[in-house]
Amino acid sequence: MPDRPGVPERPLWEQQAERNAALPTGERLQKVLAATGWGSRRVCEELIAAGRVTVNGEVAELGRRVEVEHDRIEVDGAPIGARPDLVYYLLNKPAGVVSTSRDTHGRQTVIDLVPARPRVFSVGRLDADTEGLLLLTNDGALANRIAHPSHGVEKEYLADVSGGRVAAGALRALREGVELDDGRTAPARVSQPQPGVLRITIHEGRNRQVRRMCEAVGHPVRRLVRTRIGPLSDRSLGPGEWRELSPAERRSLVETVAVAARRYDPPT
Ligand code: URA
Repeated sequence: MPDRPGVPERPLWEQQAERNAALPTGERLQKVLAATGWGSRRVCEELIAAGRVTVNGEVAELGRRVEVEHDRIEVDGAPIGARPDLVYYLLNKPAGVVSTSRDTHGRQTVIDLVPARPRVFSVGRLDADTEGLLLLTNDGALANRIAHPSHGVEKEYLADVSGGRVAAGALRALREGVELDDGRTAPARVSQPQPGVLRITIHEGRNRQVRRMCEAVGHPVRRLVRTRIGPLSDRSLGPGEWRELSPAERRSLVETVAVAARRYDPPT
């Protein structure tokens, strides 16, 4: 029924959107999504209209306002990390620095290399003698999702191995899986950009995995550098340098984790 005779009734969603927009507090959801790298406001409105965005578990309607400090906002089931108190640092860990928060031998830790406040922790670990990219954050929910071994976020390493050029048979063994004392490794992507240097991409996160894999095929690692975590890489970060993730990087990390989680735990 039209509200007034002669005036055509507006679609319900439009009325709802108007009512939501008139709520006094919070920021508009599409603005928050755009600020966290999901695209232009128009694109974010389309995401909302398509029912892909939830707030505190409920599908959000266009015009929804949110309190980023309190509301849990998710796109395709993955938290967007819009809270201003959450920080995400990408660090290029130098060799000799440990990934734990404190070291019993008094060695420098990765926590010493980034701002002291807010307190962050590393997502997964690199051995003290391994260099390269490490993510540090205070976002426990995202960290758990990334570190979950079955969610399989890819990590890429460059390994300088001893013993010279790695033969085709050893490369095949690395690709198909090698038997370690804690079980066979999952299939890996392995290439040899130059003799004795391997680019290895794995999605498991076992202790000293790449070193043990290379050793198992007769080529112990001399130097190991992590060059990529899921969508994150940065060749311009020098050893010991860090920077915050851009909104677009945060978004693609969230998306990568959501895709990996769906592969592991498909919706019914
Ligand atoms: N594999 C290793 O052997 N060491 C690391 O630090 C990471 C992966």
